[in-house]
Amino acid sequence: MDTILSGMRPTGHLHLGNYFGALTNFIKMQNDFNCYFFIADYHMLTTHPNPSDLQDNVRIILSEYLASGLDADKATIYVQSMVPEVSELYMYLNMITYVGELERTSAFKEKVRQNPNNVNAGLLTYPTLMAADILLHRATKVPVGKDQQQHLEMTRNIAERFNRMYGVDYFPLPVAFNFEGELVKIPSLDGNGKMSKSYGEKATVYLTDEGNVLKKKIMSAKTDEGPQSMNSPKSIEIENLFSLLKLVSSEDTVKHFEDAYADCSIRYGDLKKQLLADMDAFLQPIRERIKEIYSDKAYLDKVIAIGTQKARLSAQKTLKEVREIIGFSPVMQ
Ligand code: TYM
Repeated sequence: MDTILSGMRPTGHLHLGNYFGALTNFIKMQNDFNCYFFIADYHMLTTHPNPSDLQDNVRIILSEYLASGLDADKATIYVQSMVPEVSELYMYLNMITYVGELERTSAFKEKVRQNPNNVNAGLLTYPTLMAADILLHRATKVPVGKDQQQHLEMTRNIAERFNRMYGVDYFPLPVAFNFEGELVKIPSLDGNGKMSKSYGEKATVYLTDEGNVLKKKIMSAKTDEGPQSMNSPKSIEIENLFSLLKLVSSEDTVKHFEDAYADCSIRYGDLKKQLLADMDAFLQPIRERIKEIYSDKAYLDKVIAIGTQKARLSAQKTLKEVREIIGFSPVMQ
């Protein structure tokens, strides 16, 4: 049976990109596959977070996973730092990963541009830690958004190199995966690239957004001067608004606005009001569940305890086998 794995960094609240790009995609598989979903708190250390924020961020993101429909009875849900075997595998994989290939990663180059004063070795080896996350459970499919595609290619290269170097067929070669088909990129509200916390809070919709906060974000989304002729192509800003509408509105609603765009009768104010109403209706039950789950600390602790136990069993089995393949003594507790 395929093993499915995915994870997210606890950077605060989940946004629509995380939700539609990876989480719901994963949730659709939890009934039928061996699934692992984790909170990537080791990965956060590249940005040197405040120690007192780290635990609460883990609790926030776990509540949001569960409120979105991740089921602790079906998937193994765990916190990366509670499964320390991953750091041992990370170290082994670093020995067969070349600095040149790490330096060529677009996410690394982007981070160096954004933050030239914090180019630490953890940032450089971020893709090796990601490979360790995935190979730790010998996962085959990794539900992620399009932005993670290159990291998955690197994981495959590293896995393939390990197998070749040691003459084994041990690690499967995992792929970035979307249950519905193509990998997706959820756009931001400012007409500029993907939705992402680091590219602008105001253009990012979080699962917890409500009232005036949500209204302000959607009503100030970028538009253009309107279609200039019948059936003219859409600008990126308008294409983005339609992409978001398709996520939360009915087919009839989308068709209504598509037709209005095509015959130039569209009013962007109406499009935004509709998007706001449908987005709010979509988020409302998720928001309620997040509040309920977040306040139940005993339940969250239990989910983590069970998940950690299951994840460590799988991780210890892999590490035992990897140590043997590498040539170390197989002794492990
Ligand atoms: P992170 O925390 O940046 O994002 C979590 C997930 O959300 C997806 N995503 C998006 N998808 C579509 N459109 C968007 N605008 C958008 N924004 C975010 C990301 O593709 C990702 O799937 N390196 C990872 C975390 C990680 C991981 C792993 C993932 C660490 N180890 C092993 C899978 C397997 C990251 O930073 O994702």
